[in-house]
Amino acid sequence: YQEKALMNQHWVITAGPTREAIDPVRYISNHSSGKMGYAIAQAAVNAGAKVTLISGPVNIPEPSSVELINVMSAEQMHQQALLKAKGADVFIACAAVADYRVVEIAEQKIKKTADNHHMQINLVKNPDIVADVAALSEKPFTVGFAAETQDVEQYALDKLTRKNLDLIAANNVALSGQGFNSDNNALTVFSATSQQDISLMRKSDVAEQLVDIIAEQLGEKR
Ligand code: PMT
Repeated sequence: YQEKALMNQHWVITAGPTREAIDPVRYISNHSSGKMGYAIAQAAVNAGAKVTLISGPVNIPEPSSVELINVMSAEQMHQQALLKAKGADVFIACAAVADYRVVEIAEQKIKKTADNHHMQINLVKNPDIVADVAALSEKPFTVGFAAETQDVEQYALDKLTRKNLDLIAANNVALSGQGFNSDNNALTVFSATSQQDISLMRKSDVAEQLVDIIAEQLGEKR
């Protein structure tokens, strides 16, 4: 019998995109497949953690032995994340949350008319889920992601400080064969004082390495 590294720990992970409704048939979203977040959830379960996975709408199989909470919008994800992160050991924000939502969701399908060649949709900022978790009085060890298409390190470090995170995993989503919807990914994981590279490989392997890095940093902090 071997004791698993993360036994007695509760990890909360967000994954997938959010969907922001425009009207009953349309929405704003992004290309997140949920693969990266689901792989992290599975790796944490395999290492012995109790895992709550808060997921936007995806089409991939559910990891085994997780508590899965399905949500649609950023506001729903925000509500569930704050509820579940209280008292958790680790919070990982892998979801690609829509930064903005529609101010007034139309009750009926918006019609195209002969004279409206242009139309405007009014958007308002969504709450920042990972920043609000990091602001909890009993803050879990909080890990964010940074999906960037340029100046990856600079933007990632800015998010690390601005959102008061313990770690940030940066990916360059402009490169083909990694990032959104790919089976592979590469990450650079920053803390305020360290930097570790996870090279391009299957998301399941990236997830295992990320879980190891988090466990190690968590151990040093305690
Ligand atoms: O799902 P896959 O297809 O496998 O793709 C994986 C991925 C590319 C989506 C993933 O690796 C990734 O980078 N996830 C973060 C995507 C993102 O929205 O990054 P961002 O740089 O816009 O956001 C920064 C951080 O703040 C993220 O941890 C995000 O979850 C969080 N955030 C952002 C906005 C918001 N309102 N609330 C948040 O919590």
